[in-house]
Amino acid sequence: MFKLYINPNVKKGHINPELQGNFSEHLGRCIYEGVYVGENSPIKNVNGMRCDVVDALKELNLPVLRWPGGCFADEYHWKDGIGPKETRKKMINTHWGGVVEDNSFGTHEFFELARQLGTKTYINGNVGSGTVQEMSEWVEYMTFEGVSPMADLRTKNGHKDPWRVDYFGVGNENWGCGGNMRPEYYADLYRRYQTYVRTYDSSKPIKKVCGGPNADDYEWTKKVLATCFDHGNGFMDLLSLHYYTVPTGVWEKKGSATEFDDKLWYQTLKKTLYMDEIINGHTAIMDEYDPNKKIGMSIDEWGTWYDVEPGTNPGFLYQQSTMRDALVAGINLNIFNKHCDRVKMANIAQLVNVLQAVILTEGDKMIKTPTYHVFNMYKYHQDNELLDSYIETKEIGVEDRNMVPNLTESVSVDKNGKIHITLTNLSISEDYDIEGVFAESNVKSVKAQIVTNDMKAHNTFDNPDVVKVESFDGIKASGNKLSFKMPKCSVMHIEVEA
Ligand code: AHR
Repeated sequence: MFKLYINPNVKKGHINPELQGNFSEHLGRCIYEGVYVGENSPIKNVNGMRCDVVDALKELNLPVLRWPGGCFADEYHWKDGIGPKETRKKMINTHWGGVVEDNSFGTHEFFELARQLGTKTYINGNVGSGTVQEMSEWVEYMTFEGVSPMADLRTKNGHKDPWRVDYFGVGNENWGCGGNMRPEYYADLYRRYQTYVRTYDSSKPIKKVCGGPNADDYEWTKKVLATCFDHGNGFMDLLSLHYYTVPTGVWEKKGSATEFDDKLWYQTLKKTLYMDEIINGHTAIMDEYDPNKKIGMSIDEWGTWYDVEPGTNPGFLYQQSTMRDALVAGINLNIFNKHCDRVKMANIAQLVNVLQAVILTEGDKMIKTPTYHVFNMYKYHQDNELLDSYIETKEIGVEDRNMVPNLTESVSVDKNGKIHITLTNLSISEDYDIEGVFAESNVKSVKAQIVTNDMKAHNTFDNPDVVKVESFDGIKASGNKLSFKMPKCSVMHIEVEA
């Protein structure tokens, strides 16, 4: 029996909806085919955005969407993607797959997508190969209301009203694809570029995201903060962190998305749990500079990264998603909740057809991945208060070096007083008896849903509902306790009125 202690009287922080954000890059079939098919496509669309994908994403209450990259962001010149489509520049997407980018999806199209989704916007600017003027004019084009060269150009291109940019990233991975910079050099550039990311309407502040470290590169965090941290409000709102779960840890042979054994199952989960350690490490450094937590952490790229599906363009990063990905999603979202005092945004990579996508498409067909279903259960945490909770665990696994806790959890309370518990069972062989104990509150009602199946189970275009959310009625409530058996290899959401 594993006890889960919940204290509804102790609130530990606000869970920003943005912890369940997503990321859409001009990479492979994410934007083109995945989201945007163009107005003349036989696939049902509104202003070029495919309706099936938009409807599925709306169900997730997608809180924020990052665009246009990734590595693509530091090669993107936004003026190529405005104006009449027939005159937009064609270019080669040198970073991803060497295919022609016709720029038919640009700034106007992104904001149209955000409008249809009802999501906040996170624009990533170009520091690596772009100028300060280019960045400053993009911000003016998107957000300035009144008479100005860029606002006039926007009006000429059919959009008189400014859009709202909620977040603006000053470069991406500038330690790597975004310019191979040293932290001191990037930090100086950040100071300069961010000056011109102006908030023109003070009622709609643009939150600035400074390019942070890769995984456990603590030196980057230290050096960037040492140069940038103390320059008043609005200088830096968030510092990014990127960490991908690569099962083998070897980039040249990352492992298959669907073919893996017990060892690789636990090794993958061990690697994904490393996220917690990394957040702790970077948080400790941020606490030193920013003890009042004015700067948030934005984990704006995370998820599994496997070898591409056989026969697909290696530059498209197209992979399947199994129950292993469901566990990775559930574990990480629990970790983010637990760190909600510092982590203010997280964007899984990526939205459609790329890496740990929530949706896959093939022609006019669309499937929801196991990851999608986990997000659909965790959406009930959005905008809640994190509650004090703790679960007893034991170490499990098949190799000493890759032992993991059998269970993870996080608990929150929503505005109506309902408590939401999310749990993951990392074991591929054992169900566990769990007893939930509520401090000083009796359980009035309970309902639950679950995503569970064999470890390699996944949805295909022929069989789209192998993995899905199902209701779970195995929970008994009595007094201040809940008891149930949590099936192996599962992710669960329990809603309690207490
Ligand atoms: O998500 C794929 C790529 O991973 C992004 O373009 C880049 O930022 C990261 O290295």
